[in-house]
Amino acid sequence: MTHSFDRGYWNRIWDGDRAAAMATSQPNPHLMREVSDLAPGTALDAGCGAGAEAIWLATGGWQVTGADIATAALAHAAERAAASGLADRVRWVEADLSTWQPDARYDLVTTHYAHPAMPQLDFYDRIASWVAPAGTLLIVGHLHDQDHASTAGHGHDETEPPASASVTAADITARLDPLVWDLRTARESHRTLTGHGGHPVSIRDVVVRASRRS
Ligand SMILES: C[S@@+](CC[C@H](N)C(=O)[O-])C[C@H]1O[C@@H](n2cnc3c(N)ncnc32)[C@H](O)[C@@H]1O
Repeated sequence: MTHSFDRGYWNRIWDGDRAAAMATSQPNPHLMREVSDLAPGTALDAGCGAGAEAIWLATGGWQVTGADIATAALAHAAERAAASGLADRVRWVEADLSTWQPDARYDLVTTHYAHPAMPQLDFYDRIASWVAPAGTLLIVGHLHDQDHASTAGHGHDETEPPASASVTAADITARLDPLVWDLRTARESHRTLTGHGGHPVSIRDVVVRASRRS
């Protein structure tokens, strides 16, 4: 299903009330867990937001490209990288990933909750095509949960991802041709974060990791 999460939407989010909190996000725990056994190489964080994951990868020796459609998100990311002394280890690219083409493939392509104005699974197909031979695809997304998914999107209730942006592990793995991909992880999980006002927020995640066969 096509939805309206276009450049204007994301720029409004990153210029809005929640931006300050989003700009202090911590690296995604699924990334930290899934990447720990990989040798560093080149990495793309697709829809990197304020850069927590890209910066974490750079700290671990990866040569990282963080790409996002929102100007303000990348400004936060560049500031954080500079504050960490990693400004020269991450390249920030302002791009619409539904049309952008990389000039090389990456040893790791990862994405965390990015949902552009194109069907979610088509987006995952697209970024999967940017993984180099023997490289890794890591998708961390909103888990589709019929009882909790909203039709509206982010902004008001962070516990309810938009239905059009949410998927299941089976949705993703069905798109990964076993002749091309060696599936390493397909997991659905819940975790609790501290949200606005210190209230606990339940996050439902889907995590899929696969290695491209040589
Ligand atoms: C929910 S935020 C997640 C940000 C970050 N990955 C994180 O986990 O904190 C989704 C991000 O995807 C970006 N995004 C959405 N559509 C995009 C597109 N077409 N191209 C590039 N980035 C996009 C948004 O600007 C936003 O920063």
